[in-house]
Amino acid sequence: MHEPRPAGPAAATNPAPPAGPRLRAEAITLTQGGRRLLDGVDLDLAGGGITMVLGPNGAGKSLLLKVLHGLIAPDTGRVLWDGRPAGQATRRRQAMVFQRPVLLRRSAAANIDFVLRARGRRDRARRDALLAHVGLDAHASRPARRLSGGEQQRLALARALATGPELLFLDEPTASLDPASVLRIEQVVAAARADDTGVVFVTHDVGQARRLADDIVFLHRGRVVEHAPAARFFDAPASAAARDFLAGRIVV
Ligand SMILES: Nc1ncnc2c1ncn2[C@@H]1O[C@H](COP(=O)(O)OP(=O)(O)OP(=O)(O)O)[C@@H](O)[C@H]1O
Ligand SMILES: [Mg+2]
Repeated sequence: MHEPRPAGPAAATNPAPPAGPRLRAEAITLTQGGRRLLDGVDLDLAGGGITMVLGPNGAGKSLLLKVLHGLIAPDTGRVLWDGRPAGQATRRRQAMVFQRPVLLRRSAAANIDFVLRARGRRDRARRDALLAHVGLDAHASRPARRLSGGEQQRLALARALATGPELLFLDEPTASLDPASVLRIEQVVAAARADDTGVVFVTHDVGQARRLADDIVFLHRGRVVEHAPAARFFDAPASAAARDFLAGRIVV
């Protein structure tokens, strides 16, 4: 769904992707009120495929996404894009859908227009295609804040896609959706992946993680306890916490 990306100066001579991870988090810690909320997180994201982030409530999943997206500065550690410190320029190459979407007090269509205009490409056909892509074409002129929770989540996803991100962070984007809408969003995410957008997707839904994941990050108490290819994680989780989580037992 995103726009073709401009080729960098090296692209003409060297079409190979950059070696190493696209996004790397190194030794991230975050402390609030004496509590370690993120505790030495190291993470490499290849920049393609779907990384599903699993973990119990309070594990630090939302905080980690905000650090990766540059919204929270960690106390120690750093985030690198292609080996260089992430900053304003790299932020524009990624987008995030929050656990509780924040939408402008305007129509659904105007929320998308706003993002397209900020990128210098106001385009009604593209806006309408984005709304249809998430199943909101019939709601284009409704005030965004009066949409249902599930409709707002889908609008937030369409808005994120409007930026043409290379990396897309999704924090429980299907948490309040009905089954048909969940399916549609999963199709949208699969389409983004096929379009070479890297997706980092937080969910509590193990079935959803099985359906979508290329790899799994399992967070527990602010630590990345496992980062493994999906098949390996589900067949043979290495940690007791992940085994308990997958078995539906309370993990504290
Ligand atoms: N701004 C903050 N100040 C202090 N503590 C915070 C702050 N934000 C989050 N926390 C705490 O950090 C921990 C991790 O929060 P986070 O929102 O990342 O969890 P999560 O894994 O996303 O959980 P959930 O599955 O419930 O969404 C929680 O214990 C939370 O209370
Ligand atoms: Mg969360």
